[in-house]
Amino acid sequence: MTLSQNHPLMDGRTANSPLISAYRGQKPSRRPVWFMRQAGRSLPEYRKLREGTEMLESCLRPDMASEITLQPVRRHDVDAGIFFSDIVIPLKLAGIDVDIVPGVGPVLGAPVRTAADVRALPKMDDAALDPIREAVAMTVEQLGNTPLIGFAGAPFTVAAYMVEGRPSRDHMGPRTMMHAQPGVWEELANWAADASGAFLRAQIEAGASAGQLFDSWAGSLSLGDYTNFVAPASARALDLVRDTGVPLVHFGTGTSELLGAMRNVGVDVMGVDYRLPLDEANRRLGGDIPLQGNIDPALLTAPWEVLEAHVREVLAAGDTAPAHVANLGHGVPPETNPETLTRVVELIHSIPVAGR
Ligand code: CP3
Repeated sequence: MTLSQNHPLMDGRTANSPLISAYRGQKPSRRPVWFMRQAGRSLPEYRKLREGTEMLESCLRPDMASEITLQPVRRHDVDAGIFFSDIVIPLKLAGIDVDIVPGVGPVLGAPVRTAADVRALPKMDDAALDPIREAVAMTVEQLGNTPLIGFAGAPFTVAAYMVEGRPSRDHMGPRTMMHAQPGVWEELANWAADASGAFLRAQIEAGASAGQLFDSWAGSLSLGDYTNFVAPASARALDLVRDTGVPLVHFGTGTSELLGAMRNVGVDVMGVDYRLPLDEANRRLGGDIPLQGNIDPALLTAPWEVLEAHVREVLAAGDTAPAHVANLGHGVPPETNPETLTRVVELIHSIPVAGR
């Protein structure tokens, strides 16, 4: 471990928390739960605070990013905060023209498609990460014994936005590039790995007790393409934080066929989307790695009885793994009633962990 002695993971605040225990493969008596996109549009207090401030600007104002991170922790009694930021923040901090267009997602001023485009990518100045460090430090001060999870986008998912210049469904641009211009792709993926790795490292050093790599769109890749063209860059991003010793989580959607390969980039926990039951994910992974997931976000607006039965099923399947951290199978949909999320947390905390 290279963390400072007053880091929350080192000074006794978070090392024995339910989240970190489960990430380390133990079964704590209280099953930890947090939600991807728990901070955001489902919360009226978020919408109010964000009024008049653009998304990426709110991420770079430490007081605002910190407050938004804390909102869902106060409201829902979840077992972790996830730092409020975005996977394209490192691009912005490097000086790339990128914005989050409401209802659309990340949009770049100019897509990155040629060898010349890739060669011209700016190198991020380490000092640019200071607002991130400041926001994390403010946040962990408030969180006490509740761990903060830092995150970054995996190189494929980040590069997909860079090549397409905006969100796309099938990610044709990057998938063509890795075969048609493999050298250019490699350089781009490595650039994204270094930017994401530096972003994650800044969060961990400033106080995050775990790190999650989001390869949200990896599910569009074949296993062969993932292994040959993507896994090495994801490993490169994580290599930049391994010496910190914090538990590392890897998550993507549509990745049922990629779980083993995603684990092999070197992580401690696998996130599973809603498509694959956790007992089957556990079987595919060999039964020796903690799992996180995978309540179907679509059921958050179903009648309570339907949702409750589903949550119970997810927990029972999760109990087949060495340890289970409850979460959704993807992010909280904006139309979710926050009271439903609070009730789901209560339900999860009320159900004993089997096999302790
Ligand atoms: O609570 C949390 O999970 C922490 C905050 C967080 C955000 N983005 C805030 C955000 C995290 C972890 C992310 C990661 C992220 N960003 C991913 C990976 C996770 C995933 O969902 O798969 C991806 C693919 C992005 C890119 C991105 N940013 C998209 C697709 C969007 C949605 C666009 C829209 O308006 O529907 C964003 C914007 C974004 N990032 C919002 C939030 C709260 C919504 C912006 C708003 O409030 O207007």
